[in-house]
Order: sequence, then structure tokens, then C-alpha cells
Amino acid sequence: MITASDKGAAGEREDLSGPAVSEMLTKQGYQVEHRVLLPDDEELLYREMVRLADEEAVDVIFTTGGTGLSKRDRTPEATLRAAHRNVPGIAEAIRVHSLSITPRAMLSRGVSVMRGQTLIINLPGSPKAVRECLEYILPSLEHGILIMKGLDGECGKTEKLC
Ligand code: MTE
Repeated sequence: MITASDKGAAGEREDLSGPAVSEMLTKQGYQVEHRVLLPDDEELLYREMVRLADEEAVDVIFTTGGTGLSKRDRTPEATLRAAHRNVPGIAEAIRVHSLSITPRAMLSRGVSVMRGQTLIINLPGSPKAVRECLEYILPSLEHGILIMKGLDGECGKTEKLC
């Protein structure tokens, strides 16, 4: 998983969202194999997504942060550059669920895509938002991962998540 945060990467703010993602995934039985903290830099984010997908071959890359409207929020742009196929439903589900919690969910530009056999899913930046989004999408994710890998007849949480 990738945290995009200028302040976090500069050591000016503790990254609480990355650990929140890891904790929720681990509790659900997934393995979190890589945790990366990067500044809101489109090129760095793009390169890390490509590395995790192409070299580490993780099943899912979650990002947190950098989905808003500020000049430095570039996570969706980096994700779209890394994309081979769009998977709009996950981002739509995140926004629909989040809008039932706060109208400010409309301010997240997060996207969800596939690169090869890796799903890349943008989550907003706050630990609260991360928990709200993950609790909604996680129950459907395992099925999606199995289909993506051509294993839709099988069950069990052996996927590598990042
Ligand atoms: N989604 C959920 N579920 N809960 C939240 O509190 N905050 C919103 C939105 N999505 C929020 C949410 C706010 S206030 C912003 S500005 C955007 O996410 C973008 O956040 P980011 O720039 O940290 O990614």
C-alpha cells in the first residue's frame, strides 16, 4: 500500500492512514507485503505503482491520500497513467457509500483501475475515511481478485495485497 503525503514523507506528520489500511486488511486475513510513504509527487507515485504491479506482482495496491482538489493532490493522475483498464465501480462504490457519511466525499477524485493482474484503488487521506471506505469495499474484493486471477471457482484468502 502507498501513502501519498508531503508532510508524512517529510516526517512532519505521523502517517496514521497507512497503518489503518494495514490493520483492516490484516484483520480480514490478507497479507500486507509492502508499505510505502511517498510525497505527493505524480512521477514517484506512478513509478511505485508500476514497480509493485510489474515486479512485485501484488494483487491489490491501495493508495491513501492525494485525491482532493489541491495543487499537490496527484494520486488519481499517477494511477490513471499506470492503468491498463478502468474499474470504475470500486471508486463509484467508495463515493456512494462515503456520501452517505459526508457530502464532502464529493471532493475525492479517487479512481480504481487494473494494471495487468493488479488492482489499484485510491482511498482518501484521513484514517477515518480509509476505515469507512474499506469496510464497505472489502467484502466484495476477494471475489473480484479471484475473477481477475482467473480463479473464480476457488475460495480462501491467499491473495497478496499491498
Ligand atoms: N470519504 C469518507 N468516507 N470520509 C471522509 O471523511 N473526506 C472527504 C473525501 N472523502 C472523507 C471522504 C474530504 S473532506 C476530502 S477533501 C476528500 O476525501 C479528499 O481527501 P484527500 O485529499 O485526503 O485524498
